[in-house]
Amino acid sequence: KTHKAVPAPPGLPVIGNLLDLAGSETPIGALEQLAEKWGPIYKLTLGGRERVIIANYALFEEVCDETRFFKVPGAGLDSLQSGSPGPPGLFTAPSEKHPDWGQAHRILVPAFGPLSIRNMFDEMHDIASQLVLKWARKGPSYRIPITEDFTRLTLDTIALCTMDYRFNSFYQDGMHSFVDAMLAVLTDGGARARIPKFMHKFMVMRNKSRQENGKHMVDTAQEVIRHRRENPSGKKDPLDSLINGKDPKTGEGMRDPLIASNLITFLIAGHETTSGLLSFAFHLMLTNPRTYFEAVEEVDRVVGRETLSVDHLKDLKYINAILRETLRLQPTAPLFTRGLREENIEDPFTVGGYALNRDWPIMCLIGKIQRDPQVYGDDANEFRPERMLDEEFDKLPKAAWKPFGTGMRACIGRPFALQEALLVVAILLQNFDFRMDDPSYQLKIKSTLTVKPLDFYVRATLRKGVS
Ligand code: HEM
Repeated sequence: KTHKAVPAPPGLPVIGNLLDLAGSETPIGALEQLAEKWGPIYKLTLGGRERVIIANYALFEEVCDETRFFKVPGAGLDSLQSGSPGPPGLFTAPSEKHPDWGQAHRILVPAFGPLSIRNMFDEMHDIASQLVLKWARKGPSYRIPITEDFTRLTLDTIALCTMDYRFNSFYQDGMHSFVDAMLAVLTDGGARARIPKFMHKFMVMRNKSRQENGKHMVDTAQEVIRHRRENPSGKKDPLDSLINGKDPKTGEGMRDPLIASNLITFLIAGHETTSGLLSFAFHLMLTNPRTYFEAVEEVDRVVGRETLSVDHLKDLKYINAILRETLRLQPTAPLFTRGLREENIEDPFTVGGYALNRDWPIMCLIGKIQRDPQVYGDDANEFRPERMLDEEFDKLPKAAWKPFGTGMRACIGRPFALQEALLVVAILLQNFDFRMDDPSYQLKIKSTLTVKPLDFYVRATLRKGVS
């Protein structure tokens, strides 16, 4: 039986298909355009390595099979790991067989479980209130840089809830130096992924600043650990689990460099994605006013003028659906990578009837996959939160909605992110009327490891009856 060859846009020697990615606003946009032209599976040479890209539901469902495939850290994650000195955190660990992954996973899963997250509500509320206060003080004439303010919010929230550290981002004009260092490492990682590895060593200035930035992140994390050891607060948070927890399998506690790596992981994995989600949610609501008014109506009905509490959240079903639908259309971690399991000896190795080499990483373009009309119908590109209400959501095929990844290595922070986002949307709609600063604004995207709206501004006016 013969198998089809994976279509491959022709590339150039050395730089491979780098130029195919140059024409578009973002690398993700470019990969999506190539899928329009070459179909739902194609192959590129990037960073000196052949990679397969998949972009529809049927192919994706196949590579979600955990018995055949597993997560391989994609190009971005790979250079993120090499950019920070120290052992791998959960996110960047090379495989679930790596002992550092296993230990961190077993110690941290309960710390990010539903009960722990529920207990974090008050701290999440604390930071969200700071945002409300800021926008209330600035008044309706202030052009709100919403994405930047959401980044302040999500960074402060993840740091406070997971390690009792206050970045106080709302009290400074710029971002905390940790954030600058982190953004530099992420941007650099993205750029590196597109350049052949052997060229990296020639980027002398770049390598130097990357080292400095990596070191700054580790220093910040170590400072947080030192502070907790010297001031044991009794607070039961993920930092406490990292410092005092024992691996149920081996009985061992975690060594400090690995604790530091995982704190950095929380900060990186935990804030940009959630801030992007909130920004896209507001963009989608404001460009689809029907959904905006529906959400306001829900907040008024469920919360009214009461102080928002954790018990309100389960009744905010429409806003929850808005968040799911936002993550379907604009998944803020828009790509993740799967690979054939080592122990899987299938020969020939095929996906969707196409012959693949065993060592080709398979990059899943999740934004495109979640817009597949086969699953979502003719209005797959439209923002229609109704399709994400629980009754509909529960009927979706298993791999249809995977913005948090899949399998063993799926996101540990999913309940955290969804609770935070729900709380924030609710508290903001309870307190303000929103409109776009420029009604003719056309969505532009900024990408590092994650994507978010670029140059998107809104205005907020305190609602009548709010004092
Ligand atoms: C993994 C998305 C929020 C921590 C992942 C993965 C995705 C993802 C797609 C899998 C990546 C891959 O397969 O390579 C998101 C989105 C979020 C979000 C869209 C927000 C809307 C968070 C938060 C945390 C977090 C708040 C808090 C710490 C992690 C960690 C992993 C991960 C530690 C690695 C898990 C492992 O490999 O064992 N996330 N994430 N994420 N995420 Fe999230």
